[in-house]
Amino acid sequence: MNTTTKRHTSTESSAETAEALNALLADATVLWFKLHNDHWNVAGPQFFTLHQKYEELYTRWGQIVDQLAERVLTIGHTPIGTLTEALRMSAIKERAVSLEAGDRVRSTLDDLALAHARMGEAIEKASKSGDRGTENVLDDIRDTTEKNMWMLRAYLAE
Ligand SMILES: [Fe+2]
Repeated sequence: MNTTTKRHTSTESSAETAEALNALLADATVLWFKLHNDHWNVAGPQFFTLHQKYEELYTRWGQIVDQLAERVLTIGHTPIGTLTEALRMSAIKERAVSLEAGDRVRSTLDDLALAHARMGEAIEKASKSGDRGTENVLDDIRDTTEKNMWMLRAYLAE
């Protein structure tokens, strides 16, 4: 009885963790494409700097998409697999308008902050269920996010 209850609880919490990971996968997927759009359409005196920085960002966020999806699979669940789901579950929303370089960077910073907040929640869920592996993956992704945020803030302070 005890064992059954325990197993049931553990499955429930892994489902909760998978849901949080899938929400982050949705964020990362939408962000990954937005970063491409920024790489393509950024304009102005800082073009060369930002064009290259956005390429670095989307390359890393492409890896993050993969890390998140593979972690969902590792804990026995199914990662989202359609852009429709990504758009529905993402806290990061599409941007249809073109922005001036500074506003573009501010917008990226806002997106990173949204994802960062959800990472904190996901880490808490993983931690509560004793899922150290997910915590490690998310710690790595959160480090990247914080470093990205610092660099973009430093850029805006110029
Ligand atoms: Fe390119």
